[in-house]
Amino acid sequence: MEKIKNILSDDFINSDVTIHGWVYRTRSSGKITFIILRDSSGIIQCIANSVNLNEEQMKELSSMTIESSMEITGSIKKETRAITGYELAIKSYKIYERNENFPITKDLGEEFLLDNRHLWLRSREFTSVLKIRSTIFQAFSDFFYKNDYYQVQAPMLVSTATEGGSTLFTVDFFGEKVNLTQSTQFYLETLIYSLEKVFTIAPSFRAEKSRTRRHLTEYWHAEAEVAWYSNEDMMRDEEQMIGYIIDQVIKNNEEDLKIINRDINMLKKIKPPFQRIKYRDLIEMSKQFGMNLKYGDDLGADEEYSIMINFDKPIFVTDYPESLKTFYHRPDPDNPGEILCHDMLAPEGYGEVIGGGERIYDLNQLMERIKNNDLNEENYYWYLDLRKYGSIPHSGFGLGMDRLVTWICGLKNIKESLPYPRTIRRIKP
Ligand code: 4AD
Repeated sequence: MEKIKNILSDDFINSDVTIHGWVYRTRSSGKITFIILRDSSGIIQCIANSVNLNEEQMKELSSMTIESSMEITGSIKKETRAITGYELAIKSYKIYERNENFPITKDLGEEFLLDNRHLWLRSREFTSVLKIRSTIFQAFSDFFYKNDYYQVQAPMLVSTATEGGSTLFTVDFFGEKVNLTQSTQFYLETLIYSLEKVFTIAPSFRAEKSRTRRHLTEYWHAEAEVAWYSNEDMMRDEEQMIGYIIDQVIKNNEEDLKIINRDINMLKKIKPPFQRIKYRDLIEMSKQFGMNLKYGDDLGADEEYSIMINFDKPIFVTDYPESLKTFYHRPDPDNPGEILCHDMLAPEGYGEVIGGGERIYDLNQLMERIKNNDLNEENYYWYLDLRKYGSIPHSGFGLGMDRLVTWICGLKNIKESLPYPRTIRRIKP
């Protein structure tokens, strides 16, 4: 049994091969039927003609339907008119399932396609997005393994909030109300005291009421935490990581990028280092882009879009005002009111993909921030312990993997970046 991609080669000309797959398209003209078969690796035109097949077989093949499953054996030849340059002349075949009326046809509404996501995701474009996504996940892990990080895991059912109460999902835990995690950060912080450099990829949950192009209620969150790192140290690893991931995608997924019409030249520009811009300077700079922002304004999807359509490489926005970020961020001792943090904003209008920075490591400072934020100190006893026993400066970050896939693939909406998006209104299939 061969994979289709492998037989699209002069090495197979005139040899007999057997392939497995699903009918991608069919066309009959007079006595000839063309079946385009797909498998996970690609597509090939198969031709049924009466030289090799009897009348009954010809009739059966001429009535094959889209997404029916089959095995085909035949010989390969070069055929410039065929969609992938080669053609398989069918000598024998087996039908596993011949379906009627595959529900996905062209020009269907978005809701219908989302209801039928389990079928829609077979499309060629979606398959390419998922292949690129797979490369991105592998490259993320590989980068950190190569740089002496350990991969760790942490719970998804938690009693704390990391990113504020407004986006918490609560679940019933044997009569007690607990939360689905918003971020693994605090658990990663506990692990740096033994492992020093750690990372994880896990789902995070946000009860986001906002319906934007870039919000999911369940998303894949890649996070890292490093002992002794400053904000600048952390940004340096992040930009190298992004450069590495994009190199891997260019190397492994050129064909997929073509299938989804992604301009590869835009990706080739993404080489570290990335520019660092202080929040207050960005507010000034935004006037150049015709925007009317003032110091203290939060940057949402729209603002970041208007800024980032002017860049073709990511930027780091640093030193946000304290009021805009959560309680654990370390204030800058030299610039009161500002924190030692960064967001990485992706170019071409995509905006925030990473949030990170230094963490408070002084016990009193952290207790005060917890109190001022009306959080229950008791729930954070273990987080506070880290500041009592061998506290050290450290930094970390969180990367929205689905946002990264959306940007790298040049997609319009984050929902296109993963098989089963969970948004405010969707929990099926
Ligand atoms: O900026 P956020 O909220 O930061 C944290 O959760 C930190 N605790 C991470 C850390 O330092 N370990 O989220 C980090 C990233 C964002 O930059 C964004 O890419 C992604 O997570 N993100 C979302 N992606 C999809 N849908 C949502 N609703 C998201 N919310 C955040």
